[in-house]
Amino acid sequence: MSTTLSSSPSPASGPEGVAVAAERRWAVVVALIIALLIAMMVITGLHWASMPPSRVETVDVKTLHLQGEFVESDLGTTLGADGKVTVRLVAQQYSFAPQCIVVPAEMPVTFRGTATDTIHGFVVGTTNANTMLVPGFVATFTTSFSKIGEHLMPCHEYCGTGHEAMWARVQVLPAQEFLARARNGERLSCVAR
Ligand code: CUA
Repeated sequence: MSTTLSSSPSPASGPEGVAVAAERRWAVVVALIIALLIAMMVITGLHWASMPPSRVETVDVKTLHLQGEFVESDLGTTLGADGKVTVRLVAQQYSFAPQCIVVPAEMPVTFRGTATDTIHGFVVGTTNANTMLVPGFVATFTTSFSKIGEHLMPCHEYCGTGHEAMWARVQVLPAQEFLARARNGERLSCVAR
């Protein structure tokens, strides 16, 4: 009985059967790839919705110049009691506050920034210090600088007619020099005293 079945011509045997089997194999492979891609989209989508790539931290644009860490007197570089270096800055059309930022070399530096009017951004020279500044949100990242000297820090998000003239400077000091100047417990400015 079984011998008759296998030898009898049917769609599942002969060259046609081989082709059908091959097509079915490819259909399964393609279906698996599509299922994998959809699973990746769903899983990464859900994962990022609950844990975005950068923490979501909001700030009230209407009051940030009056209270909180972004008041003008608190902008710039500070050395905390815990030895951590933090740079706070605000972007607006068409300048950064402060206009010049002092940071130490070879030490972790945490940037915290926001914008008051529209989306801005900055990159420090050719380093990897690079972020967008979005009104209502605090952008933060930690990096360290290896090249001592002055870097240009242009705005890199088109923000209006004055965009190309919007830039600040970053002075990278040797860590010892930075620490010597920071001991006073004041905000650091680019002007040597
Ligand atoms: Cu600010 Cu472009």
